[in-house]
Amino acid sequence: MSYAKFAKYYDRYWTKDAPALFEMALNRLVLPLLPEKADILDLCCGTGQLSARLSHRRFNVIGVDNSREMLDIAEKNAPDVLFSLQDAETFSLSQKFSAVVSVFDSVNHFLSEESLLNLFNSVMKALKDGGIFFFDINGINAFDDDWDEGFSMVDCSSACIVKPLFEPVTGDIVYNIIIFEVKGSGGDYLRTDTQVQERFYPNELILSLLRESGFNEVQIVDGYADLKIKAFKCRQFFLAKAN
Ligand SMILES: C[S@@+](CC[C@H](N)C(=O)[O-])C[C@H]1O[C@@H](n2cnc3c(N)ncnc32)[C@H](O)[C@@H]1O
Repeated sequence: MSYAKFAKYYDRYWTKDAPALFEMALNRLVLPLLPEKADILDLCCGTGQLSARLSHRRFNVIGVDNSREMLDIAEKNAPDVLFSLQDAETFSLSQKFSAVVSVFDSVNHFLSEESLLNLFNSVMKALKDGGIFFFDINGINAFDDDWDEGFSMVDCSSACIVKPLFEPVTGDIVYNIIIFEVKGSGGDYLRTDTQVQERFYPNELILSLLRESGFNEVQIVDGYADLKIKAFKCRQFFLAKAN
């Protein structure tokens, strides 16, 4: 599984400013629409940093992810949240939710239209009547300029190099990840190679699949033009209502 080897690094570096920014987007678009202490599902919750923030605000949060390694960290980051190891395409939980949130490119991880439709159908089943499905999509313009330069994360005991490759015809994005970890004090290091895969989808396709799942009321909000959050320059937020 793609996040197995990467979970520790994802939690340490990837989520530096992101959870606060996604919470800001939720503050603007979703949380004011929910009742106090509403039930929220954090779908593809990763290492649970957003779950923890929502739980601190007294929402009743459940997190679902299909990576055991990500959930092991999530359980430490958000001890008051219940986490469940399930696939988002097929998950089932005994309760229904006022909101399902799935942020930080999570929906880009579903690599076919069929998978996306399965995801949207499962979310629809998990929502209360009038409930809200909130997610973001990493847009194709994220790869316009310096998408292939990649980036690195280095500290005293490790280096993690991420090199994205984008295939414009299919919309596939592969993040090739190389991790070097210092082992012991002799200067040896352990190299680990892994990959995370995403796919870009045009808004029209997402809208049509949402409609097919029964989400007839959908709002698209641009992370930069509408929310004025610079880090969300290439990110679109979808707010879909179950009714
Ligand atoms: C980019 S991370 C985002 C994590 C988290 N939402 C955040 O804001 O940090 C994508 C997450 O989606 C999870 N994921 C990918 N495909 C999944 C699937 N089919 N079912 C459940 N989780 C999935 C991965 O394990 C990973 O934790």
